[in-house]
Amino acid sequence: MVNELKGKVAIVTGGASGIGRGIVERFVAEGSRVVIADVEADKGQELAAGLGDVALFSRTDVSDPEQIGALVATTVEKFGGLHVMVNNAAVSSPLRRLLDDDLSDFHRIMGVNVLGVMAGTRDAARHMAENGGGSIINLTSIGGIQAGGGVMIYRASKAAVIQFTKSAAIELARYEIRVNAIAPGSIPTPILGKSAAGMGPEQLKEFEAKIRQGMRDDRPLKREGTPDDVAQAALYFAGDRSPYVTGTVLPVDGGTSTGKVVRPRRSEG
Ligand SMILES: NC(=O)c1ccc[n+]([C@@H]2O[C@H](COP(=O)([O-])OP(=O)(O)OC[C@H]3O[C@@H](n4cnc5c(N)ncnc54)[C@H](O)[C@@H]3O)[C@@H](O)[C@H]2O)c1
Repeated sequence: MVNELKGKVAIVTGGASGIGRGIVERFVAEGSRVVIADVEADKGQELAAGLGDVALFSRTDVSDPEQIGALVATTVEKFGGLHVMVNNAAVSSPLRRLLDDDLSDFHRIMGVNVLGVMAGTRDAARHMAENGGGSIINLTSIGGIQAGGGVMIYRASKAAVIQFTKSAAIELARYEIRVNAIAPGSIPTPILGKSAAGMGPEQLKEFEAKIRQGMRDDRPLKREGTPDDVAQAALYFAGDRSPYVTGTVLPVDGGTSTGKVVRPRRSEG
């Protein structure tokens, strides 16, 4: 479809890179005006400039609720409203075994991944509640659905996003505000490399290749996902095709969270 979001105004946090960038580009292609909110000012400004006057960049650290309040106010002031809030910004935790983890990243990760989503939902909803409703889309992860080793703080943060999303959906339904979550899995973006801080370029390449191979082995659909695969799910929640859908968690993961691929052994002879 074209112009599915005509007349709408959206905020995409973490919109300067990866999945967020894919959502920004898809929303603009569908007629929305978009505010890109990120801490990466150069990348965000460059993206906004390339998209023209339908996009704006706002340097925002989502772990600071005051900056989120200012982001919503700027969006309403510049674009005249806010219909869709995509709380996408997140950081991963370093890959460490639990027994070796001093948990010193806990507050930083929870600040971005949980407080950022909660404040983004609250402040967008404060505007939407007074203005006929809207759609809020929170990015969780298959890591928030499936248990597993490593990146424990990240997994815990993404599980929190799921429970918060469902609870907010119940509370905000009376204002015609829908709140849904998307759980991507194994979409090649810079986030994986960021959890391997301290590695040199060759070691990082090897590490990523090994992890991606493992993900592919477990994934029913063998191709790699793309940011636009996730953006299509965001488009569904953002637009007018899902007016009766709230409180859901949609995995966009090639079937990974459905179950592992079982390879039956061939019978002999
Ligand atoms: N890529 C995947 O396979 C995958 C899997 C599961 C979930 N996700 C989720 O998808 C979302 C997007 O991840 P991605 O893969 O595109 O990662 P990414 O690292 O490419 O993008 C994250 C963006 O968030 C921004 N950001 C980080 N901290 C911020 C802060 N404090 N304030 C504002 N912006 C901040 C970064 O600058 C970056 O632009 C995240 O919520 C992530 O947890 C991704």
